[in-house]
Amino acid sequence: MKGVILVGGLGTRLLPMTRVTNKHLLPVGRFPMVYYPLYILVEAGIRDIMIVTGGNAPGDFMELLHDGSEFGLQHLTFTYQRGAGGIADALGLARNFVGDERVAVMLGDNILGGSIREHVEAYRRQRSGAKILLRRVHDPQRFGVAEIDEAGNVLAIEEKPEQPTTDLAVVGVYMYDQRLWEILPTLTPSARGQLEITDVNNAYREAGELTAEVLECEWSDAGTPESLFRAAEITRASEFWHVADLPAGE
Ligand code: G1P
Repeated sequence: MKGVILVGGLGTRLLPMTRVTNKHLLPVGRFPMVYYPLYILVEAGIRDIMIVTGGNAPGDFMELLHDGSEFGLQHLTFTYQRGAGGIADALGLARNFVGDERVAVMLGDNILGGSIREHVEAYRRQRSGAKILLRRVHDPQRFGVAEIDEAGNVLAIEEKPEQPTTDLAVVGVYMYDQRLWEILPTLTPSARGQLEITDVNNAYREAGELTAEVLECEWSDAGTPESLFRAAEITRASEFWHVADLPAGE
């Protein structure tokens, strides 16, 4: 399985910090934000990773991460998304890199307090389709929100609903098979002018090919000053990050 980390976007909710740099290079606790999703994928057993950047300071990712060897990778692939076409648009740039494998996609501003290894392994055992991860939150209207039945089947996903029907937010970690490449060309821009990852997940759901698991560890996106602060707190409190072998940069 390949890995793709999305680190594009303009990070406007973090201005003025993002005027001169990319959101995903800002510090979260002791390390640059992008270190966390990269380590999460590596720890889950994914060794072939592409970074899709965009917006400001794309070259800084190469300067920071080099060939990925500090993270135990043999090489790291980079590409650049022009404009703000959305998560699903950025994913299209990874098609040749992913080839005929499956892919685990992670949004670069999603900070977790623990491993996703067991979920990735469960997906490896899944015969086909996609898997998403959910987390119970107090402010679901900020996220994609899922409704599931007792067996864990996803009944609906709504992007940032005004009146959420559940408290289950869709985490920015997605696992897809080759059907992804059939779905992407069918998407149309949402009201915010972007190709939405929620539409990809709903297409899998309608095909009866979407599974979901609820994440138990802490989770924050780091897109606003408050959530960036919370993300740093999560990394500081988490045993997982205390023992994580993150490169010190010396
Ligand atoms: C995106 C997704 C949303 C998901 C969130 C997780 O939102 O569209 O469904 O819950 O990431 O961080 P965005 O950050 O683009 O507003």
